[in-house]
Amino acid sequence: MQDIDRIVQEARAAFAATDNPDALEQAKARYLGKSGRITVLLKELGRLAAEEKRKAGAAINQAKAAVEAALTGRREAIKQAALSARLAEEALDVTLPGRGEAQGGLHPVTRTLERIERLFASIGFTVADGPEIETDFYNFTALNTPEDHPARSMHDTFYLLDEGGRLAEGVLLRTHTSPIQARYMQAHVAKYAGQETMPEIRIIAPGRVYRVDSDATHSPMFHQVEGLWVGENVSFADLKGVIADFLRRFFETDDLKVRFRPSFFPFTEPSAEIDVAFTHGAQRWLEIAGCGMVHPNVLTHAGIDPERYTGFAFGFGPDRLAMLRYGVNDLRLFFEGDLRFLRQFV
Ligand code: FA5
Ligand code: MG
Repeated sequence: MQDIDRIVQEARAAFAATDNPDALEQAKARYLGKSGRITVLLKELGRLAAEEKRKAGAAINQAKAAVEAALTGRREAIKQAALSARLAEEALDVTLPGRGEAQGGLHPVTRTLERIERLFASIGFTVADGPEIETDFYNFTALNTPEDHPARSMHDTFYLLDEGGRLAEGVLLRTHTSPIQARYMQAHVAKYAGQETMPEIRIIAPGRVYRVDSDATHSPMFHQVEGLWVGENVSFADLKGVIADFLRRFFETDDLKVRFRPSFFPFTEPSAEIDVAFTHGAQRWLEIAGCGMVHPNVLTHAGIDPERYTGFAFGFGPDRLAMLRYGVNDLRLFFEGDLRFLRQFV
């Protein structure tokens, strides 16, 4: 009987020493398998006398049941341990902050353009546009720009190659939004052809333009907002009034320092450039626009009688307006796509 108890204890110890199902099944075979120690004891019963057989049989069956119970217990424990290990491994740390919904924001230049459009809309300007790949004709010729004007050179203007890699004739990336003036006037004249009086033109035209330029106040791709007001009795005083009013509202201040600096553009006469004062150490001036009275040749080119109609035009650099408004000292930062910079304006 002591023998049997020992076998049970050994079986329990053997099962407890296993930590995976395979090892447990091997241990089981050593006690309950075909030639396992308990099985062997049962086989040997046949050799005992009837009385002893009954006693020994009962004891062996009890031992067998105890071994089976130990086996089941260990199986369950191994299964539980595997489950716990898996749960620990796949655990989610619910205390981690979530990723959240990324919220987009408008680019500071887009916001500036929208602001400019709103302010001009409030005094009756509608928005017009034109192509970024422009013809040499609208970008220069229709704007009274002579063949040998330096702006037409490769140093200033991006030209295009055709599919064969040759210079594409007569097309370029527009260098300013002024060709929209010519396009709009032409279409306007065609629309009201044959009528006694032509309705006024009062448009702005925002868009991307391109030049071979790069420094803190020049980017090769930048924006302009063209403006054009043509009608009877439109004067330079109107131009100054519209611009001064716009700038005061744009910068939300009445004591903005603005100066009109006499300048030259082939398509306006007289012409001026507009500078705004800002402080960076000392006071400095930043040019924000060109403007002037539409040149009679440009009106004539579009089919408008310069004896009867006059007009003014301007071309703002909204990227520079954004620089001044937000206090940014390098305009190229707006176009480098660095979110750390751009997020500051959202
Ligand atoms: C012109 O482009 C004229 N078409 C403006 C005009 C329109 C004059 C209508 C008269 C009538 P200008 O080259 O000065 O002018 O450019 C106008 C403005 O665009 C500049 O004052 C400046 O604010 C901005 N600008 C010019 N080049 C760049 C550049 N590379 N990067 C950023 N802004 C620029
Ligand atoms: Mg200029």
